[in-house]
Amino acid sequence: MNTIVNGLQWGDEGKGKIVDYLTEDADVVVRGQGGNNAGHTVIVSEDKYILHLVPSGILWKQKKNIIGNGVVIDPVGLVNEIETLENQGVTITPENLLISDRAHVVLPYHCDLDAAQEQARGKFAIGTTRRGIGPTYSDKATRNGLRMADLLDPGLARDLISVRLEDANSFMKGHGMPSHDTSAVMEAVEPALARLKPHVTNTIPALHEAWREGKSIVCEGAQGTFLDIDFGTYPFVTSSNTTAGGACTGTGLPPVAIDRVVGVCKAYTTRVGEGAHITECQEFSDYLHNMGREFGATTGRKRRCGWLDCVLLRFACMVNGVTDLAVTNLDGLDERESIRICTAYEIDGVEHTFPPAHRGAWERALPVYETLPGWNSDTSTCRRWDELPSEAQSYLTRLSELAGAPVKYVGIGPDREQTILL
Ligand code: IMP
Repeated sequence: MNTIVNGLQWGDEGKGKIVDYLTEDADVVVRGQGGNNAGHTVIVSEDKYILHLVPSGILWKQKKNIIGNGVVIDPVGLVNEIETLENQGVTITPENLLISDRAHVVLPYHCDLDAAQEQARGKFAIGTTRRGIGPTYSDKATRNGLRMADLLDPGLARDLISVRLEDANSFMKGHGMPSHDTSAVMEAVEPALARLKPHVTNTIPALHEAWREGKSIVCEGAQGTFLDIDFGTYPFVTSSNTTAGGACTGTGLPPVAIDRVVGVCKAYTTRVGEGAHITECQEFSDYLHNMGREFGATTGRKRRCGWLDCVLLRFACMVNGVTDLAVTNLDGLDERESIRICTAYEIDGVEHTFPPAHRGAWERALPVYETLPGWNSDTSTCRRWDELPSEAQSYLTRLSELAGAPVKYVGIGPDREQTILL
C-alpha cells in the first residue's frame, strides 16, 4: 500500500504525527518537495523531535528514508539536523537515509537573495521563512541551479557558482546585501557535503525496487495545499507543488503506484506569514496561544488562527484526490462553548464554494458560517470514536460532508498514541 500524506491547509496541520502513525506499517518514507522551511514536530512518549528535511520514518528502526529529487537541501542545515537527531539517540546511516543526487542545493547566497527579494517586493512581501527556498527553486526553473551531484564535483561546482554569482551579487548589492565569493561559498558547505556524501545516490531505482517488491511507501508532504505554487493563495505561497502531484514528480514514483491519499487538516485553520486567511479570529488565536499552542516549529512565529475553512478544505480534497481525511488537534476546541465552521465565502454579495484566483477577491471575501455546539470537555483520553463526545462526532461528520471526503483518523493531543483510527 503506497500512500501520499499531504497537508490540506497552510502547513502545520500535524502531518508529522500522522506520517509517524502510518509509518508503523510502512517500509519506506520519502519526501518529495520543500526544504528546511518545513518543520514537523513528532512526540514519542516523553521525547520531542523536530524534523525539517529528514523524513519522519527515521524515528522508527528498520525503515528506509529518502530525501527525493524534488526537495531543496541546505547541506549545513541538514547536517545540523542529523547531528541533533543523533544526539537524541536516533541512528542515521547511509542505509536508512538516502539523499537524491538530483535534489537541488540551497547555498548561502540563496538565503540572502530570499531576503533581498522580500525587500524588493515592498508592500507585496510574502513573509518567507528566509531559508532560500524561492531562489533555489527559481534557479532550478531557470536552469541556474546546482544539484547534489554537481556539488560533489568541486571543480564543476566552483565554475557554476562563480557564473551564478556574477548576476546574484549585483542584485544583492542593489539591496544592500553583502556580495558572496565562490571560495567562501564552497568553504561554507564543503564539510557538510563531505558528511552527506555517503548518503547521496540515485534514489529513484531504490524507490522502484521497493514498489516492485510490494513494500509499503509513504510520501511525506511538507507545507500544505494553499502554499502550493499552482493551487495556493498565490503569490503568498511557497515555491513547490505541495499537493499530491508533487509527490510523484518529486520522488520519481509514478501516479499508478499510489493507492491512497491521506489529507491532513486541523480541526480549525492556521497560517503563518502573510496572505489571506478568511476565518482568522483574534479571540480564537489568543485562546490557542494562551494554551501555549500554535507557535511555528521552524521560526517560532505565532500562527494566525481561525475557524475551520471548508471552502479551502473542499478544494484541497479535490486537487489532492483525498481518499482519507485525518483531522488533527481536535482537543484545541475542547474548551469552546460553540464552534464555527465556514461553508462558503461571500464576495461582492455572491456566495462562492470554491476559493477565488484573483488577489483582490481574497481581500473582499467574507466567511459564511454555520455554528455548531461545542463539547466543552477534555478529549485527551479518548482513544475510540465512540468515546468522543457526541458534539465532537457531529462536528467531524459535518466537516466530512462539507469537505467531500471521509474522516478516517482523528488526532487529539500531540502524542503518537493519541490517534483514533476509524
Ligand atoms: P518560503 O517557503 O520560505 O518561501 O515561504 C513562503 C510562505 O510559505 C510563507 O508564508 C511561509 O510562512 C510559508 N511556509 C513555508 N513553509 C511552511 C511550513 O512548513 N509551514 C507553514 N508555512 C510555511
